[in-house]
Amino acid sequence: MDHFLYRNGILHAEDVPLPEIAAQVGTPFYVYSTATLTRHYQLFKDALDGVPNMVCFAMKANSNQAVLKVLAGLGAGMDVVSGGEYARAKAAGVPGERIVFSGVGKTRAEMRAALEGGIRQFNIESEPEMGVLSEVASSMGATAPVTIRVNPDVDARTHEKIATGKSDNKFGIPISRAKEVYALAASLPGLEVIGIDVHIGSQLVDLEPFEQAYAKVAELTRMLRAEGHDIRRLDLGGGLGIPYTRSNEAPPLPTDYGALIKRCVAGLDVEVEIEPGRLIAGNAGLLVSSVIYLKNGEGRDFLILDAAMNDLIRPSMYGAYHDIDPVVEPAPGAGRQPYDVVGPVCESGDTFAKGRELPPLVSGDLVAFRSAGAYGAVMSSEYNTRPLIPEVLVKGDHVAVIRPRPTFDEIINRDIVPEWL
Ligand code: LLP
Repeated sequence: MDHFLYRNGILHAEDVPLPEIAAQVGTPFYVYSTATLTRHYQLFKDALDGVPNMVCFAMKANSNQAVLKVLAGLGAGMDVVSGGEYARAKAAGVPGERIVFSGVGKTRAEMRAALEGGIRQFNIESEPEMGVLSEVASSMGATAPVTIRVNPDVDARTHEKIATGKSDNKFGIPISRAKEVYALAASLPGLEVIGIDVHIGSQLVDLEPFEQAYAKVAELTRMLRAEGHDIRRLDLGGGLGIPYTRSNEAPPLPTDYGALIKRCVAGLDVEVEIEPGRLIAGNAGLLVSSVIYLKNGEGRDFLILDAAMNDLIRPSMYGAYHDIDPVVEPAPGAGRQPYDVVGPVCESGDTFAKGRELPPLVSGDLVAFRSAGAYGAVMSSEYNTRPLIPEVLVKGDHVAVIRPRPTFDEIINRDIVPEWL
């Protein structure tokens, strides 16, 4: 459930009609709902009730300061994958003890910054990385809390670009080698082994792969404890999928996911961490765009929008499907017709949807892409010198621009022409 509903025939973000925001900030723009972000975070908290847990928002999905503030204010931790994300989490007021550092290629500088600023744990992904963290922490006289990310060789049955739990993916260490890698970690100075980490992929629409992976992690917990390791925390990653279309079957609910986790960790006496990104932010955001032109092609009609692949890259990058709704609700029984929905960028990949059935639209009409709150704004670029589009946050009838659209001058003035030219 989200808080983007038609009221009196106009699509609203909570209590605010989208045309009002469009008039204020211009199109295209992203808009997020505080109530939906809050609800989605709370769903996970409720689902894990009864088990010591921390829900760490995977802020790669949406790292706007205001969004982080909403979640941090609810008690969320953050899962970060770069020095930049770490700095963003700290800037949003998240204490170091609620920040988990993931990612396959952490640099010395990133490790140092996190150790200086405080960190809940590093999720280590390889032996070389472990060696470097040991060196960095020791040189600072610090001890780095670590989990080791294991690759359980489980097929997440998701898009190949976002599957991470098979042995041919670059992530984690093979679970079959966990025993020796944990022994190495325990022998290195500056590291304190505290748990196990696993993340098998994103947009999983089936609980079975989670079950397989978590069962392996539970078994590994017992084995490593028998080896003398103090495994007290399991980071079970993110990845729970969301409905991208109203017509397909619904992905599993956080409640079912939580029940599965509880089943898998029963009797282990561990603290559970999860790192959801998409489920918290995805359906908490829309991308709102205007129709620039309707162009009649040969055998097809192109709806040319002012949003493009640089603003929302998921359709061209993953062939992802996003529902597109007219902001003015079509009259009951209004006809629909197929459109190729495209942006103005100069490549054919700049296509949001082909043959999408929509009510008749004309130049100036507003449309909203659903499920755009995760991996939307964060993956955008200024390709074709199209300014990053504004982000807007709504809470009830409050509206705020939480990232303004840069001016052309701001964009151009970031470039430096050498004086010797
Ligand atoms: N934890 C780790 C270690 C991850 O790599 C990811 C996502 C997550 C948590 C969060 O997964 P989520 O709950 O959001 O599924 N750009 C792609 C998604 C990439 C996901 C990468 N890792 C997309 O637009 O679909």
